[in-house]
Amino acid sequence: MAKRVFSGVQPSGVITIGNYLGAIKNFVKLQHEAECIFCVVDLHALTVPQDPKELYEATLNTARLFVACGIDPQKATIFVQSHVPAHAELSWLLECNSYFGELRRMTQFKDKSAKNEVVTAGLFTYPVLMAADILLYQADLVPVGDDQKQHLELTRNIAERINNRFGQTFKVPEPYIPERSAGGRIMSLTNPDEKMSKSSDDPKSYISLLDPPDLIRKKIRSAVTDSGREIRYDEEEKPAVSNLMVIYSLCSGLSLEEIEDKYKDSGYGQFKKDLAEIVVETLEPIQSRFNELCEPGKIEKILREGKERVEKIAAPTLDDFRNKLGLVER
Ligand code: AMP
Ligand code: TRP
Repeated sequence: MAKRVFSGVQPSGVITIGNYLGAIKNFVKLQHEAECIFCVVDLHALTVPQDPKELYEATLNTARLFVACGIDPQKATIFVQSHVPAHAELSWLLECNSYFGELRRMTQFKDKSAKNEVVTAGLFTYPVLMAADILLYQADLVPVGDDQKQHLELTRNIAERINNRFGQTFKVPEPYIPERSAGGRIMSLTNPDEKMSKSSDDPKSYISLLDPPDLIRKKIRSAVTDSGREIRYDEEEKPAVSNLMVIYSLCSGLSLEEIEDKYKDSGYGQFKKDLAEIVVETLEPIQSRFNELCEPGKIEKILREGKERVEKIAAPTLDDFRNKLGLVER
C-alpha cells in the first residue's frame, strides 16, 4: 500500500520562503510518491492572539498558496483543521495520555512563552494537537522543517505509549526533515543565528511568497553577509552566505559546489544580484497562480472536498480509540 504523508502549516499573514523550501516544496514532491494530506492548521494559530479577520483571510490564503506552489488537489488532499472536529476531540483524548513534564520540556513552548505576554493553556498543549493531527490519519511520514523535530519525537512517544497500554492503535510516524544544506532550516536574512520566521517583527528578515519583485530585490540586497568576500558554503564560518547559498541552490537547482565554482571570481554583489533574480523567477509563477485562485469560491470548493475525504479516513481511528478507552458508542 502507498505510504500516507501528513503535514500542516499554520495560517498567518505571510508564508515565507523558509516554509516553502523547508516544507511545502517537499509536499509537492511527495504527492507523486504517496497518498498526501495537507492541512491548514487554524486551531494551532489560535494558541497566540489573532485578529479574527486576518485569521480568516490567512486560512484561505494558506490553502491558495498550497495549490499555487504546486500541490494538485486531484492528487493530494487539502483541508482546514477546524473543519474536522475529530482533531480537537482526539487531542483531548491524547492530552489525557500525555504528561505535564514532557510538554514543559518542549523548546518551542519555552521560546514562545518567554516572548508572549499572554501564555494560553492552548500554547502549552499545542504539540498534543499536532500529535492528534498526525495520528488521526495513521500517517507514515511527516515532512516538516527542522524546528518541528522535537514535536515529532513527542508524537512518536505518545503513539508508542498508547499502543503499549491499549494494543496497536496508532501508526508511529517517521519524520521527513531535510538537512540544513537542503532547506531544513532557512535562516533570517538579518540574523543568520535565527531561523527565518513569519512571526518576526522585522519584515526584512524574511521573504514572503507574496512579496513583489522589487521588495524581494531590496531585501536580498540588504541581507547581512559575513566577513571576507568569497562565496563558500561553511555553516560555522560563513553562516549568512551559506544560508543565501542554500536558497540559491534550492531555487536554481544548482548544487552548492556549482555555486561556489560559478562565483569563485566574483564578490557578494554579483552573487546577491543573481540570487534576487532567481528568487523572483521562482516566486513569479506561484504569485500568478495565487491570484487566479482568489476568484471567489475556487479554494472553498477544494477545501470542502478535502474535508469530506479526510473525515472518512479519520473516523475509524477515532472510534477505535474511543472504544479502547471505554467511551460508550454514539
Ligand atoms: P509554520 O509556519 O510554523 O506552520 O511552519 C510550516 C512548516 O514550515 C513547518 O514544517 C516548519 O518546520 C517549516 N518551516 C518554518 N520555518 C522554516 C525555516 N526557517 N526553514 C525551514 N523550514 C521552516
Ligand atoms: N506545528 C507545526 C508548525 O508550526 C504545524 C503543524 C501542526 C504540523 N500540525 C502538524 C506539522 C502536523 C506537521 C504535522 O510548523
